[in-house]
Amino acid sequence: LSLDNIFSDAELVAFDEKVRRYLKTDAQLGYITEPKLDGLAVELVYRQGMLVVGSTRGDGVVGEDVTAQLKTVQSIPLRLRDTADALPEELVVRGEVFLSGKGFLLLNQQRQEAGEPLFANPRNAAAGSLRQLDPKITARRPLQFFIYGLANPEVLPVATQGEALAQLGRLGFPVNPLVTVCASLPAVEAQYQRLLATRHELDYEIDGMVVKVDSLGLQQRLGVTARAPRWAAAWKFPAVQATTVIEAVEFQVGRTGAVTPVAHLKPVDVNGVVVRRATLHNQDEIARKDLRLHDTVLIQRAGDVIPEIVKVIAEMRSGQEEPILFPANCPECGQPLAQTPGEAVVRCVNAYCPAQRLQQMIHFAGKSGLDVEGLGKKNVEQLVREGLVQTIPDFFRLNAEQLASLDGWGEKSAHNVLTAIEQRKTLPLAQLIAALGIRHVGEEIGRASCRERV
Ligand code: IVH
Repeated sequence: LSLDNIFSDAELVAFDEKVRRYLKTDAQLGYITEPKLDGLAVELVYRQGMLVVGSTRGDGVVGEDVTAQLKTVQSIPLRLRDTADALPEELVVRGEVFLSGKGFLLLNQQRQEAGEPLFANPRNAAAGSLRQLDPKITARRPLQFFIYGLANPEVLPVATQGEALAQLGRLGFPVNPLVTVCASLPAVEAQYQRLLATRHELDYEIDGMVVKVDSLGLQQRLGVTARAPRWAAAWKFPAVQATTVIEAVEFQVGRTGAVTPVAHLKPVDVNGVVVRRATLHNQDEIARKDLRLHDTVLIQRAGDVIPEIVKVIAEMRSGQEEPILFPANCPECGQPLAQTPGEAVVRCVNAYCPAQRLQQMIHFAGKSGLDVEGLGKKNVEQLVREGLVQTIPDFFRLNAEQLASLDGWGEKSAHNVLTAIEQRKTLPLAQLIAALGIRHVGEEIGRASCRERV
């Protein structure tokens, strides 16, 4: 699961109203706030007080077992401390593994000396360190851990997240010292301001503050949506901004025919990430922001969110700027584009448009679809270009000779891809439905339509 983001006091108030509406209550709710650590989520299973399994989220469906690697992280207890209360038979906890700022710099320094590629940020470094096949390598990385949740709270005698964290602390888990129970919304706001002001003094990166309903009973009543818990929100710190120039605009045709204008920017470093492109969303957005070709613009990046253009810096205009003209015809197949009244999106409605077809095939084979190993974007593009795949069933008609004769392929890669396709034939029906890439039909509707449990 991920967390819904909020960016302001007003959005915090709206989050609180939504929670209370769902619970049908006017009463003030108690919250708990925790720093949002920028690392990697892990789950740890303890049986009779001993760490037995540690995993990451893997591909979101099947986790990745990294028990041996996690056992090398100093602050993860291998055995729980005996307290006065009896230890539960099984305890399942979640938390974040991360590298300190210093640890990250040190690691990159060592890599530079060894002539190895550098990690772009502490989060990538933490993920890379846990994915090491050899736990001895993981052990040398200065990884740290903070606990933030209990997957099976019923096993401990606790009623709130605050009590759960205190109890987990007594069992030997590291609890972040900045966790704060807040009796009211103003207290949550004050804590956000405090965290924002002091984040630079911390030795690790945080990208915001997680606000959670403190009562575990209410958390359970609120439950989760397909993507996020209803009882929590991530209040993100303001985005990092930079200025650059729109050098060109490309019109990309997506899987459902939607035509999206994408700005090619003069490459600019925004807090450690080089930004080259930004989506302009649609025609209305271009008009609203009055964007023109060669404009100097303010861009921003918030966490992992795709960079966006905030506004034009009008004072920088020279008069040489040109309007961004939306094409009347599909840039790929030439058919006239259509717009549904009341919708901002312009679409190519040609069901045979090669660009849509290509995106559908990439979606089907890729992470958002069947997730066939070896059939990433580049390879699917090649299969489509060579005419081996035109429609979804074609993936299941591929044969070893055809594949092995492709540029850059051999017998081994052909065999691997065919085996991977074979393995994907037994996926849950809902995932297959989502992979078809029908507009508005994702995995949740996929599950509902084949009556699996959501
Ligand atoms: S609670 C999503 N608490 O943020 C399920 N998550 O954006 C509830 N994260 O996958 C998570 N600090 O890896 C929670 N104090 C905290 C957190 C935290 C960092 C990460 C976590 C999660 C991601 C969602």
